[in-house]
Amino acid sequence: RGELRGVVALDGPSGTGKSTVARRLATQLGARYLDTGAMYRAATVAVLRAGVDPTDADRVRDTVARADLRVTTDPQAQATTLDGEDVSAEIRGQEVTTAVSPVSAVKEVRAQLVAQQRSIIATALAEAGGIVVEGRDIGTTVAPDAGLKVYLTASAQARAERRTRQDTAAGRQATVDATLADVRRRDNYDSTRAVSPAMAAEDAVELDTTHLDLPGVLAELLAMVEDRGLRA
Ligand code: DC
Repeated sequence: RGELRGVVALDGPSGTGKSTVARRLATQLGARYLDTGAMYRAATVAVLRAGVDPTDADRVRDTVARADLRVTTDPQAQATTLDGEDVSAEIRGQEVTTAVSPVSAVKEVRAQLVAQQRSIIATALAEAGGIVVEGRDIGTTVAPDAGLKVYLTASAQARAERRTRQDTAAGRQATVDATLADVRRRDNYDSTRAVSPAMAAEDAVELDTTHLDLPGVLAELLAMVEDRGLRA
């Protein structure tokens, strides 16, 4: 069975298992992997470090424009750097998770990051032939020509439970109730923002993961990749 040819776009809200699934899928398909959420999170670290109010759109825009954000595309060695410093752990912290919604709602920030994402995808396609890209607007905006677009969903309760397990496993304090409130707040913010609201592309396949485990989701995705003839 061959390697991935082209782009798989994996969109959907947090807590659907999207990141884990995307990394595993990329690994199994010998493809690169791009976590666009990590880029919005690194931009948010830049904003917080500069002491800028995340809701001050003009200052956010200027701060992010000056930031050197980089992500690796090896699915087994994920790293995110800001101005040369590894911020892979910091971007998962609660402060960043709270501030990332307003930062990612700024039009110029999105334009900057989408352009960078397209260039990362072009390089990966040239070097490796295939890439799995995860985010909120990959199928609609970043890679509208993707060979496969999947929109992962799950009930808010199931997503809050998964995130709480992840946070606890990573040594961060978390309760399902607080996480559920945060999941709902971010869903609402991300899906109602004016610029590029999070939503499924018209030609995306919706996959509800509420009652599926990781191998189950992976099997579904591999079958879709196979169906579309995306393996060389
Ligand atoms: O997937 P994540 O939780 O790491 O994403 C962090 C935030 O970035 C989330 O609030 C939505 C935003 N985001 C976005 O607006 N567009 C993307 N393509 C990816 C993430």
